[in-house]
Amino acid sequence: MNNPLKVMGPLLVLWAMALAVAAPAVADVKQLAATCVACHGPKGISNNDLWPNLAGQHEIYLIDQMKAFRDGSRKDPLMSATAKTLSDADIEQLAAYFSGLSDKQPPVRGKENMAGKSVSGACISCHGMWGKPVNSQWPVISGQKKGYLEKQLKDFRDGTRESPVMSVIVKGFTDQQIKDVAEYYSQFRRD
Ligand code: HEC
Ligand code: HEC
Repeated sequence: MNNPLKVMGPLLVLWAMALAVAAPAVADVKQLAATCVACHGPKGISNNDLWPNLAGQHEIYLIDQMKAFRDGSRKDPLMSATAKTLSDADIEQLAAYFSGLSDKQPPVRGKENMAGKSVSGACISCHGMWGKPVNSQWPVISGQKKGYLEKQLKDFRDGTRESPVMSVIVKGFTDQQIKDVAEYYSQFRRD
């Protein structure tokens, strides 16, 4: 006779082992993220205009940026020290965690920045019509903090943040054009 326990027993053991392996990973990522949420917010939405939202950002892009902070090719007084403490495995787990959080912010109801819309003609080929690129290596910029977007564009223009692609795009931009296009993209919903 077929004893169901004989069949189920080993499966149960495997299942328990799988849980034992998976469980600490989940706990670990929450623990790791505890150091980040002070600035990036418990749901990946920061409460400071100069600190980026991470929720819903592309995973590969998040990995690239954390590695850039860690190896010093991207610098920031608040971010660099934290990044230096992260292993490759930490970075991968954190990127998966934050990119998986969804951003349910209500849409910004202010007046649409039309000057920014006109500047955005130079962006849509890569960042898409609404700031959501099809390529997962390029960042989502819709619903990102206005002040953060503005600072990044100035950093690219002034060479403080390196990106061969972005530096060329914003090279001739005035401060006003940068301000307008930053506001324009910050006005979209992310999800
Ligand atoms: C003390 C505040 C602070 C803490 C803590 C912090 N960050 Fe940041 N983070 C920042 C700031 C500020 C920036 C933007 C820097 C700039 O202007 O270039 C940033 C940028 C980033 C970026 C780049 C986002 C983008 O769109 O390019 C990632 C990814 C990131 N942080 C992940 C993390 C993770 C993961 C942790 C936790 C391990 C963490 N940060 C902890 C302040 C912080
Ligand atoms: C040819 C493709 C291309 C075009 C066109 C382009 N971008 Fe980008 N953008 C990129 C890439 C690639 C990155 C990632 C750079 C890096 O690795 O640091 C980026 C990064 C950014 C970032 C940083 C996002 C973050 O989370 O830190 C902002 C902001 C941005 N772009 C805004 C714009 C705006 C506004 C325009 C139009 C004026 C524009 N981009 C046009 C490819 C492009």
